[in-house]
Amino acid sequence: MRNAAITGWGMYVPDQVLTNADLEQMVETSDEWIVSRTGIRERRLAAEADTTLAMSTRASRQAIEVAGIDPADIDLIVLATVTPDKFMPSTASLLQTELGAHRAAAFDLAAACSGFVYALAVGSQFIQTGVYRNVLVVGTDALTRFIDFTDRGTCILFGDGSGAVVLQATDADEGVLSNVLGSDGRGAQHLYIDGFASNGLFSDNGNGHIEDLQRTYMKMNGNEVFRFSVRVMGETAIEAVNKAGLRLGDIDWLIPHQANLRIIDAAAKRLDLPRDRVWVNLDRYGNTSAASVPICLAEAADSGKLQQGMNLVLVAFGAGLSWASSVVRWGATGVRGKGFHGDG
Ligand code: UT7
Repeated sequence: MRNAAITGWGMYVPDQVLTNADLEQMVETSDEWIVSRTGIRERRLAAEADTTLAMSTRASRQAIEVAGIDPADIDLIVLATVTPDKFMPSTASLLQTELGAHRAAAFDLAAACSGFVYALAVGSQFIQTGVYRNVLVVGTDALTRFIDFTDRGTCILFGDGSGAVVLQATDADEGVLSNVLGSDGRGAQHLYIDGFASNGLFSDNGNGHIEDLQRTYMKMNGNEVFRFSVRVMGETAIEAVNKAGLRLGDIDWLIPHQANLRIIDAAAKRLDLPRDRVWVNLDRYGNTSAASVPICLAEAADSGKLQQGMNLVLVAFGAGLSWASSVVRWGATGVRGKGFHGDG
């Protein structure tokens, strides 16, 4: 079996910033409440031009450039999103054209906030089994388009963005060491966005046909999702560590889904990791759904703090309810790319 190494990374967030102070003008909330309950201070909002395709293209181009590969050599694109631009074709197929990755197979994957870690598992399997050599894995969401900005229970949490990595086949001792994927559909009603049902009717307004289309918003039972996530983040992270044949003491970094600082802290505690070994950026971006883990990874890689041989735990949870984790050993290629995006 070959290893699937992360050799490139990239990220994109929209320019428009929505601060907690802005939200104080929109709903009955306060900066103090939001920071103490979630850790979020501001988030980015997709402008009209920031489609899922456009954001994915920006992040992917960076990842491809860091990896130093020709887009024509990409064998597969897996794009994790629950906010695709169209029902068909897949946003991954549109992205393929933007990138000039003409040889690639391409498809979207929907696992909500767990989507990127799911997609990383899919991409790495194709490399480990020898089917493909170069895989682009992207996580992008524009969830703020589906947020009711009069609902203080959800509108404070989410932001938009995209992150991407290039996976490449290697014989070196690095790359994706383990994957854990999970889902419990019995919790589906705790976090969802209604839309077109498979019978062609709009599913939220009774007898409505497409002409009756009305805006659809995310619905969330925050307390249920919170309880679930505190349990599952730690459990699934530990399962991935065991599956990789490692011990907790072997883990150098936690790269968690950015939903709530209290949830992240609980996971870090289960892994026995201090805060300075946990990548946190939700104060700046909020919860960017499928983009949150790859954005963290891109920032961590650019910071120069990831050294060759370090073991990273990536872990996420989301609608489904779903969860996913992965242990990744950072490689020589990652260290070589240090500082690529910013300080050269
Ligand atoms: O990727 C997965 C996406 N979803 C999540 O990660 C959500 C996970 N859940 C959470 O992060 C938390 O449950 C929330 C941040 C959503 C809520 O925090 P909480 O500590 O669970 O608060 P709560 O829902 O128990 O509400 C406590 C109080 C309530 O008032 P009363 O009934 O005690 O008077 C709420 O009405 O806080 C009130 N409240 C707010 N107050 C100010 C709820 N939202 C707000 C708000 N500002 N934005």
